[in-house]
Amino acid sequence: MFDLIIKGATIVNETGTFQADIAVADGKIAEVGQAASGKAARVIEAAGQYVLPGLIDMHTHFQAPFMGCLGALDFYTGSIAAAFGGVTTFIDFTNTKPGDSVLQKVKERREEMEKAVIDYSVHAKFVEATDELIGEIPAIVDYGCTSIKMFTTYRQEGVMIDDDGLLKVFAAARKFGVLPGIHAESNAIAEYNIQNFKQQNLMGWKHFPDAKPPLCELEAVQRGILLARVTGSPLYIFHLTSSLGLEAVRAAQNNGQKVFAETCPHYLLLTKEYYERDDGYKYVMSPPLREEEDRLALWQGLADGNISIVSSDDCTYSVEEKTMFLEKKGADYQCDFTKVANGVAGTETRLSLLAEYGLHQNRLTLPQLVAALSANPAKLFGMYPEKGTIQKGSIADLVIFDKEKLQNVSAKELHQNIDYSIYEGREVTGWPVMTIAHGKIIVENGRFTGERGQGSFVKRKPFAY
Ligand code: URP
Ligand code: ZN
Repeated sequence: MFDLIIKGATIVNETGTFQADIAVADGKIAEVGQAASGKAARVIEAAGQYVLPGLIDMHTHFQAPFMGCLGALDFYTGSIAAAFGGVTTFIDFTNTKPGDSVLQKVKERREEMEKAVIDYSVHAKFVEATDELIGEIPAIVDYGCTSIKMFTTYRQEGVMIDDDGLLKVFAAARKFGVLPGIHAESNAIAEYNIQNFKQQNLMGWKHFPDAKPPLCELEAVQRGILLARVTGSPLYIFHLTSSLGLEAVRAAQNNGQKVFAETCPHYLLLTKEYYERDDGYKYVMSPPLREEEDRLALWQGLADGNISIVSSDDCTYSVEEKTMFLEKKGADYQCDFTKVANGVAGTETRLSLLAEYGLHQNRLTLPQLVAALSANPAKLFGMYPEKGTIQKGSIADLVIFDKEKLQNVSAKELHQNIDYSIYEGREVTGWPVMTIAHGKIIVENGRFTGERGQGSFVKRKPFAY
């Protein structure tokens, strides 16, 4: 007797698609094949539907104080929004400040995450690299957090690490099986431009992308790649946005370096013209939106495998938070892009946007979609094959995906806790209709059926060279 049988669906793994039944027992996949004759507490007839491994969103910022704001989602509401988007595991970040013990921050963040409805893990954020902090890395790895995030910018926010720090962390990462990653923007270029723009009173939304142009990304990507090469460390580039950055990543990969990159739906769908709008502040995220040419290059990079992952970088702010530090000018705001909290929502719409603009526009196949959203995050971040694949013995984290379901993206219907969506009004074909975590149905027919705190901490394995 099984707990659940999903009958007659097309199963999609990163390696291909096939038709089979899936039988689930004790939260694991017990059989993939002809389970139809077995009995189960619940049988789902899924002919014509697609079943994907539960998505992994390895880049979220829930409940994260940043630029004076708190964000609209905590780990409970954020994980529900993610679950509606077919996500069954997310990885968020420590909120490390100078002077903090990173190990302690990892443990605190794990505790904050306990209310999540899906599984979770933590990237350890290093903002400095004292001997003491480097000495914590083996214990952080033992604890199950095998990835590190560093910022090459946001000096004024107190989270930027210097080059000496990058080198020290990279060297330790290599030694202890950690995948280090960087938010790659040159702080020097950004600060230099912003100072000049301020003097010329060019603080409107439309000037934001010019303050942090592709060269700003390229400088930090190249520096990260070179410093990683010096130490023999692998390197992960968070939210790559530009064709120039992509070329640098591709060159390093062709040179045999273990460099991996992610991009996000907003960089694949939107361009800098959005900053011309009166509500351009809603699109202020870092790095900024780019040109059409960059957008198309990112799709190509994804199709070619130079970009491994599409994460959401979900950092959801309400209009009130986005505008809280702006001065009022009549009914409008006095524009100043440096006063707008950086970040956009995205974990709930990631799969459907990729289905519409990737799959249905023939840029990606279904297995490529699964690679970018599920299998590659599991592999790079130490969770494969327990997660990221549909095979006997894996955790029964599954999404039933209706590839042909038409849906209008609307903030009213989403669960992101804000009253706008940067994709408002877009028609997408393809929507997750059921999310199953550890064999339990947590989203069905547009309803959340899970429980607060039912997610668990994922102890991740060291990065596999
Ligand atoms: O704009 C963004 N990406 N916000 C989240 C924090 C960061 O910069 O990574
Ligand atoms: Zn970032």
